Amino acid sequence: MDRLPDGYHALIIGGNGGIGRAVVDRLLADPRLGRVTVVSRIPFETFSSRLEAIEGDVTTPQGRAELGRALHGPGGHAVPLHLVVNAIGLLHDDANNIQPEKRLEDLDEAALMELFRVNAATPALMIQALLPHLKGSHPTTVVSLSARVGSIGDNGLGGWYAYRASKAAHNMLMKTAAIELKRLNPQSCVLSFHPGTTDSSLSRPFQARVPANKLFTADFVAEQLMSMVQQRGPADSGGFFDWANEAIPW
Ligand SMILES: NC(=O)c1ccc[n+]([C@@H]2O[C@H](COP(=O)([O-])OP(=O)(O)OC[C@H]3O[C@@H](n4cnc5c(N)ncnc54)[C@H](OP(=O)(O)O)[C@@H]3O)[C@@H](O)[C@H]2O)c1
Repeated sequence: MDRLPDGYHALIIGGNGGIGRAVVDRLLADPRLGRVTVVSRIPFETFSSRLEAIEGDVTTPQGRAELGRALHGPGGHAVPLHLVVNAIGLLHDDANNIQPEKRLEDLDEAALMELFRVNAATPALMIQALLPHLKGSHPTTVVSLSARVGSIGDNGLGGWYAYRASKAAHNMLMKTAAIELKRLNPQSCVLSFHPGTTDSSLSRPFQARVPANKLFTADFVAEQLMSMVQQRGPADSGGFFDWANEAIPW
């Protein structure tokens, strides 16, 4: 069965990010898309009759509650979602003096907490808020953006403590949610996705030593993500995959 039925409904969280926006553009180019709901902290500018833009911060309980309300149909019933892409994530934030740590002396409690809040807690709480739209018997795929540096087995370099650890926690939360969701919808599939180094504001300060052929465009990554969505199903739920659709060690 096609993972995305005709007229499918997608939800993209973080539509103004580099990868989030590219996924929205790709969905709007798909004639089989029924509707895409896009959530962003600042207004989403693209217009389409098939796009509903919701302004809100899903890292807050209010933002998640508003999103839940917006996703209910006219009769108050929960609209089934066939695809959810969580494209938010935090590596550095100049305004709040957050930078990836090079050494133990750089560790900062507030920065650690903030990265865990945005990168790990929020994706899990999003799934909690979206449960009425995910449970049932319809095919539903949740892709949450992770990072290879969140792999404990693959950590040969060290550094980037908060980002690495928050993405490792993200992966555990997604794997655990995948197990529960399987009971609530046998057609569900939850995937943690590493996009590869992608040209966006998140990676820009760290691109200098990335070879040109290893720096992907957001459009390429969106294409790879959508190809993974079509190829992966309930049997793969809870897995951690990269842009080439290959499994990454935990
Ligand atoms: N780019 C890469 O090389 C790379 C590599 C591995 C993994 N990833 C992962 O891919 C995902 C997407 O990243 P990207 O490359 O598209 O980066 P991006 O362009 O910087 O987008 C980041 C997204 O996260 C949201 N965000 C950041 N901090 C937030 C906060 N405190 N509260 C709420 N929302 C916040 C941003 O919202 P606003 O637009 O409202 O700021 C934006 O939607 C992230 O999870 C990232 O960790 C990226």
